Amino acid sequence: MDWKTWYQAHLCTAQEAVQKIQSGSRVVVAHACGEPSAILDAMVANAAQYRNVEIVHMVAMGKAEYCKPEYDENFHHNAFFLGGSTRGAAAEGRVDFTPVYFSEIPGVLREELRPNVTMLQCSPPDEHGYVSLGVSVDYTKGAAETSDLVIAQVNKNMPRTLGDSFLHVTQIGCLVELDTPVIELAPPKITEVERAIGENVTQLIKDGDTLQLGIGAIPDAVLLFLKEKNDLGIHTEMFSDGVVELVEAGVITNKAKTLHRGQSVATFLMGTRRLYDYVDNNPAVAMYPVDYVNDPYIIGQNDNLVSINSCVQIDIMGQVVSTSAGLRQISGVGGQVDFVRGANLSKGGRAIMAMPSTTGKGKISKIVPFLDQGSAVTTSRNDVNYVVTEYGIAQLRGKSLRKRAEALIEIAHPDFREELRAEFRRRYPRDY
Ligand code: COA
Repeated sequence: MDWKTWYQAHLCTAQEAVQKIQSGSRVVVAHACGEPSAILDAMVANAAQYRNVEIVHMVAMGKAEYCKPEYDENFHHNAFFLGGSTRGAAAEGRVDFTPVYFSEIPGVLREELRPNVTMLQCSPPDEHGYVSLGVSVDYTKGAAETSDLVIAQVNKNMPRTLGDSFLHVTQIGCLVELDTPVIELAPPKITEVERAIGENVTQLIKDGDTLQLGIGAIPDAVLLFLKEKNDLGIHTEMFSDGVVELVEAGVITNKAKTLHRGQSVATFLMGTRRLYDYVDNNPAVAMYPVDYVNDPYIIGQNDNLVSINSCVQIDIMGQVVSTSAGLRQISGVGGQVDFVRGANLSKGGRAIMAMPSTTGKGKISKIVPFLDQGSAVTTSRNDVNYVVTEYGIAQLRGKSLRKRAEALIEIAHPDFREELRAEFRRRYPRDY
C-alpha cells in the first residue's frame, strides 16, 4: 500500500482513536510542548470505558486531568518528571514516580516498560510520507517505534523540525488531523537575584563555547549577559526563545563546535510561536532522540561544553539535590546528570549548577550542612564542579571536602554563613 492510501485509510477522529485503547494498557504520551492535548482530552472524556490505564510521560504542560481523584480506577500516572499540574497529585499519593536519566528513557521503554500505545503530535507528511515530531523528539520517537499502536495528532501548527525527527505515516495506526495551537511557554520574569546569578555564570563562559541550558529564569538570565560573546554553540536537551534572540544577534553561530558544526542540537523545545517559526524547516537546528543528544559520550565530543542546571539544595560536601525537598517530589532528574557528566568528559568543559542562595522568601538556605531527610541526591559530589549563586562562584572539582565547604560557605546567603561555619568548625576543629 502506498503511503497516501495508508494515510487516508487510517484517518480518524480523536474519539475514534481513543476507543482503541484497552483497559490495562500502558500509554506513553509525548511531553512538554509536544503534548497531544486534544487526544488526551478525548481519552479522559472516554474514561468510563477504561480500567487501570497507565499513562507515562515526562514534563506535564497540560491539565493532567487523568490525575484527578475521580479517575482513580480508570487511569494511573507513572511520571518520569513532575510539573505544576502533577505535583499536587503526587503529594496526595496519586502519581507513581520512576527515577531515570533522560538519556536512558528510550532504552527503558524498549527494554523494561514496553508500551502498548504512544500518543504524539506531528507535522503533516512531506511528499515522501514522513511526518516530523516537531518540538518533542526526545523519547517520543523511540516510544513510537516500540509501541503496538501509535495515535498521532497531525497538526499544521507543529513545526517541521529536521534531524532524526521523522516517522513514516505507515508507522502510525491512527492519524487525527487537528490544527490546534501548539502549547507555548512564555519567557519567565527575571528577578534581580536571577540577573546577578546570570552575570556570575557568564564569567565562566568564553567565546566559542558550546552551551547546554536548562529551563527557566536562570538560563534565560544567563542569555541576557551573553550579547558580547562570539561564536557560541548549542548542544542542549532543550532551548527556548532566548536562543533565537542570540542567533539573530549573531552571538550563536555554532561555528566553533567540534560536533554538528553549524547546527544547534536539541531534543525538545519549549517557547512561543517565535521559536516554533524559527525552527520550522531550518537546517541550522538539528533535533535528535534523547538517547543521542543526552548521551554523555556524545555530549563530551563537544569541546568546551558548558552545562548550566539548577537545584533545590546542596550540602557543604557538594551533594546536589535537584528533584525533591525531603520526600516531597518536585521534578525529575531530566538531563541534569547526563550533561554534568558530558561536560566533565568534554575537553575544556565546565559543569555549572546555578541557584539562588535561598528559597521560601529568604528564610531557607539552599546551601545546608545536611540534606533534608528523605532527599535523593541527583548530582553526586564526585560529579559536581562549579556552583554559582548571586554571591559568587564556588569551584569544587578536585577540591577536598574541607576546601569545598569553605568555598560553598563563601557563596551562601550572609544570613546563613555563621550557622554553616559552626558546622564547619565542628567537622574540622583543627582549622581553628
Ligand atoms: N527546600 C524546600 N523547598 C524548595 C527548596 C528547598 N531548598 N528549593 C525549592 N523548593 C520548592 C519551591 O518552594 C517550589 O515549591 P512550590 O512549587 O510549592 O512553590 C518548588 O520547590 C520549585 O522551586 P523553584 O525554585 O520555583 O524551581 P525552579 O522552577 O527554579 O526549578 C529545579 C528548580 C531544581 C526544580 C529545576 O531546575 C529542576 O527540576 N532541575 C532538575 C532537572 C534538570 O536540571 N534538568 C535539566 C535541564 S531541563
